[in-house]
Amino acid sequence: MKKLQLLLRWVLLSLFVVLPAAAAGGDPSTEIALIFTVSFMVFVIATLMYIIGVMNTNIDPIADLYFRIKHYVIPPPSEVAPDVGHVYDDITELDNRIPPWFNYLFVGTILFAFVYMLDYHVFGVSNLPEAEYIEEVVAANLQKKIMLASGGTINENALVALKDDASLKEGAENFQKFCVSCHGPQAGGLVGPNLTDEFWIHGGGIKNVYTTIKKGVPAKGMISWELVFTQKQMQNLGSYVLSLQGTNPPGGKAPEGTKYVEPAVAAAADTTAQKSL
Ligand code: HEC
Repeated sequence: MKKLQLLLRWVLLSLFVVLPAAAAGGDPSTEIALIFTVSFMVFVIATLMYIIGVMNTNIDPIADLYFRIKHYVIPPPSEVAPDVGHVYDDITELDNRIPPWFNYLFVGTILFAFVYMLDYHVFGVSNLPEAEYIEEVVAANLQKKIMLASGGTINENALVALKDDASLKEGAENFQKFCVSCHGPQAGGLVGPNLTDEFWIHGGGIKNVYTTIKKGVPAKGMISWELVFTQKQMQNLGSYVLSLQGTNPPGGKAPEGTKYVEPAVAAAADTTAQKSL
């Protein structure tokens, strides 16, 4: 009866291994699943033929081995731990078996290592760190190219506050979507400070405001937005924020930081900067 169970398990196990592999084999990009399925089938058939032909369907040795391994991992409940022969303060030392969960873990690490080796080193399905890094760099370069092609980049060294309607409108839209939760619908401030007064914690003027938006103030809860927006979008946001100067929305927060005065030199530099964009 036990032997029959064992055979049944063997067949079930093969089904569990072969079916998912066969399903994955449908993916044209990977022939590995197919190779794996076929090798496994060959192995199963060879084993069965060996059992039938060579062992005359006598699977006792296999069953023995199986139960010996099984009992090593999970000691049969009837087993009594042998006495080591040491008694301390009336406490007897028994040679208890290693607990099953530990053995499972141990065998698990071996299986994992095996799968890992096949995956990373034999078939090369998953990328090693170096290849992974290169892939990321390639992806980033591609993204950069797309950004450049989409006109999303600007010359950050020659920033100017834009005044045209289209830029301010886009800035306003993004502000309504991403910033009002902390700065209020009219930028009067909620968790974040009032952005409509002349006082700035991180400096006023387009350059400072742009940098604050780009880098964020993570320590205070404002994330860095450079992965969310293109440079142009951040310029539009900054320009929009600055266009709100002096609007004094109702319920606005008290000024924070220091009063910002635009340096005269920077203003002059800005006019020439426009050309280099
Ligand atoms: C999760 C809340 C949160 C969101 C969302 C947020 N901010 Fe902020 N922001 C803050 C906080 C808090 C500060 C103040 C940081 C400090 O005290 O140093 C701040 C500061 C600023 C400052 C500098 C203010 C100063 O006084 O120097 C600017 C400019 C700014 N945010 C713009 C934006 C823009 C534009 C957006 C949307 C893209 C945005 N913030 C989204 C929380 C937020």
